[in-house]
Amino acid sequence: MESNGYQSGFGNEFATEALAGTLPVGRNSPQRVAHGLYAEQLSGTAFTAPRAANRRSWLYRIRPAAVHGAFAPYAGARGFHNAFGEDPVTPEQLRWDPLPLPDAAAPADFVDGLFTMAGNGGPASGTGVGIHLYAANRDMRERWFYDADAELLIVPQLGRLHIETELGVLDVAPQEIAVIPRGVRFAVALPDGQARGYVCENFGALLRLPDLGPIGSNGLANARDFLIPHAAYEDREGEFELIAKFQGHLWRAPIGHCPLDVVGWHGNYAPYKYDLRRFNAIGSISYDHPDPSIFLVLHSPSDTPGTSNLDFAIFPPRILAMQDTFRPPWFHRNVASEFMGLVHGAYDAKAEGFAPGGASLHNCMTGHGPDAATFDKASHADLSRPDVIADTMAVMFETRAVIRPTRQALEAAHRQRDYQACWAGLRKHFAH
Ligand SMILES: [Fe+2]
Repeated sequence: MESNGYQSGFGNEFATEALAGTLPVGRNSPQRVAHGLYAEQLSGTAFTAPRAANRRSWLYRIRPAAVHGAFAPYAGARGFHNAFGEDPVTPEQLRWDPLPLPDAAAPADFVDGLFTMAGNGGPASGTGVGIHLYAANRDMRERWFYDADAELLIVPQLGRLHIETELGVLDVAPQEIAVIPRGVRFAVALPDGQARGYVCENFGALLRLPDLGPIGSNGLANARDFLIPHAAYEDREGEFELIAKFQGHLWRAPIGHCPLDVVGWHGNYAPYKYDLRRFNAIGSISYDHPDPSIFLVLHSPSDTPGTSNLDFAIFPPRILAMQDTFRPPWFHRNVASEFMGLVHGAYDAKAEGFAPGGASLHNCMTGHGPDAATFDKASHADLSRPDVIADTMAVMFETRAVIRPTRQALEAAHRQRDYQACWAGLRKHFAH
């Protein structure tokens, strides 16, 4: 399915049709829809959610979503689950090398290539996140996936993704992100033949743009830079497969047609993409490095004001010119828990060991910060010149609840069991 291009604006009320005259005028559910289509509402929030938070779209489609065979447990994607476990959670700093790409002899598509790293909460409680990596080397062929448990924040690190969804097509590349709403069916093709990246399942409130407070009406991620697909559809029949994720488990059903058959839609519940390089980074122009909340792209609020279920932050290219300041991110311990990934380049708090495609996890009150080499360098840097941090893009999923690593992540061959040693070289400088 080819892209029909994009519309722009985060959370706008869109109207798009791939065939002229599809959308009804002045009503949502006419007695007979144009072109013999079915009308179907897709709700992403409670019917009665406040207007500013209410998300729903009306889809005009060849067959309703109810048309498919019986669901049975899906035996594939063994590494993709929400079993964050009851094991005791280590307070140790954790880090991983990039997830190896699948063997050509045992290819995996986007769904089968998902590997669950960590998470908290779950689909039953409607709070928390699931954090996964994907490594794939095969297109999703004649099968489609939807996640009833969460909206999916997809962060490609290697290789482009061609994501065909019910509401249109998203083409995303590393340094861009895609968000697929809960319930929306989609398939992923790999234009570069292989792909790797991060996926955050958000079980909580839908991702939204943060308020800007005294920053003003512009800055951080600007609403107009979010791109939403125009309607595109496929009218195709055959023996296909529908994979569903429901309450932490995967299911499959036969389906006799391509479910991407939405000819037109209108509403504000839709997939979107965003180029992280468009983020307007705000920072100090006097002294000290601000809290990393200044790098917030999107967040999922919790029921406690100011405390997110999920904060999605980035560490983009930026200029550091603060005076009498240790310029890299400082040593810290937080009540929040932080899972980081690196999409591109090098991260300015670590001299080595944090590779693009890798990951780290620093949980609640676990001390972390720059490694010894970075500390030494930054402590003696010439501050008369600004540091231009270029060619970098680190990402962070930060949560209010502790992020529980999965057993498979702790036991993985690509876990760096000596990560803690990067702070061992921080010598005593105290003198009096
Ligand atoms: Fe941190």
